[in-house]
Amino acid sequence: MNKISLFADKTIILGVTGSIAAYKAADLASKLTQAGAHVDVILTQAAREFITSLTFQSVTGHRAFADEDLWGKEGHIQHIGLGKSAHLLAIAPATANTIAKLAHGIADNLLTVTALAARCPLVIAPAMDGGMFTHPSTQSNLEILRKRSTSIVGPAEGHLASGLSGLGRMVEPIELLGHIRLVLADSGPLSGRKVVVTAGGTQEPIDPVRVITNLSSGKQGYALAQAALDRGADVTLISAPTSLPPPVGVSLVSITTAEEMMHAVLDRSNDADLLLMAAAVADFRPDKTSDEKIKKSTGVSKIDLESTVDILNAVANLKTKQDYPRIVVGFAAESQDLISNAQAKLRTKNLDLIIANDITSKDAGFAVDTNRVIILDAGGGEEALPLMTKDEVAEHVIQRVTPLMRNE
Ligand code: CTP
Repeated sequence: MNKISLFADKTIILGVTGSIAAYKAADLASKLTQAGAHVDVILTQAAREFITSLTFQSVTGHRAFADEDLWGKEGHIQHIGLGKSAHLLAIAPATANTIAKLAHGIADNLLTVTALAARCPLVIAPAMDGGMFTHPSTQSNLEILRKRSTSIVGPAEGHLASGLSGLGRMVEPIELLGHIRLVLADSGPLSGRKVVVTAGGTQEPIDPVRVITNLSSGKQGYALAQAALDRGADVTLISAPTSLPPPVGVSLVSITTAEEMMHAVLDRSNDADLLLMAAAVADFRPDKTSDEKIKKSTGVSKIDLESTVDILNAVANLKTKQDYPRIVVGFAAESQDLISNAQAKLRTKNLDLIIANDITSKDAGFAVDTNRVIILDAGGGEEALPLMTKDEVAEHVIQRVTPLMRNE
């Protein structure tokens, strides 16, 4: 995992309580640390039956805290110091017992005392047997916490330690990381802003089982959606089929064809502050789609194609009529004359910025994790970025458009 700018200078307390899911907390601590956060882990006595402090020390690079620290050398101020320095307190896994203590202000160990002393947002990931989770006592405790704006993530359904199957499993660390990002991003520089992102390659059907498509993986679009979420934006992701999990917190609109993408874009853009058109939209589609699967024995001598609509041209029309979307960013995938082709698209599609990339280069463009792009603006400016991960390109693009949106 790469560093994520949202986590720079952030301190996160990770409370771990006594559940078999404590092993997942080690993965979460590792992911948060790799993302750039300073992670202080507090284990309850019961958690230490399942996992050791050394595990967390190894992944965070510094000592983990436990109950003896409450009364130890650093004495009475430990919990106040931990609670005050934190930007977020995550308790994962959170047992029914700890949830009950949090709901009623019981402070009988370092973690619950710290929770009482802290004033930062609280995220909990319940983990327990299904019967304990659905018990009215646990449900009313969760309700109390929800009313206090605690983010309760999960539990998920599936295999439980009791051997039964049901609701009670702790959510996976990667999903929890998405929720933590969402909470940290609250009141970020794009909070209250509506951002629409398109991603992936559209598919144009030949018959019910065959399509014409392209090699786009959707990675750059998904990274842009996450980067906008990290700054607090309200993000709609209009996605062609991909194998990627949608970032936690997006409003996902799944489409297949260019035509469906166009309707979704026009519908969602008419009050959007920003449209990021990262999708690889098919320029052509079969002029006829067979309702039945075409049989091998029938054969196909040729497929006639017709043009699809250019979505950005339709958006430019919308913008002249009603001034929305406020800022429009396009992407140009080129295999020759990168700058002049991208400049022409910037002008004809009436864009504020265009992100141009040379798709013939092996480490940039379709399907790979890295990209090398040049950002061109409507004023004639040109900024060439070095080879970066698609996540870094996304962060950079969002940083570039943020001041444009402030002026709107
Ligand atoms: N685009 C669009 N509608 C289409 C095709 C492309 O809105 N039917 C958008 C893309 O999402 C991208 C920009 O237009 O933001 C440029 O796409 P690109 O494929 O590079 O260029 P095209 O306009 O399709 O032109 P060409 O294929 O001739 O390079």
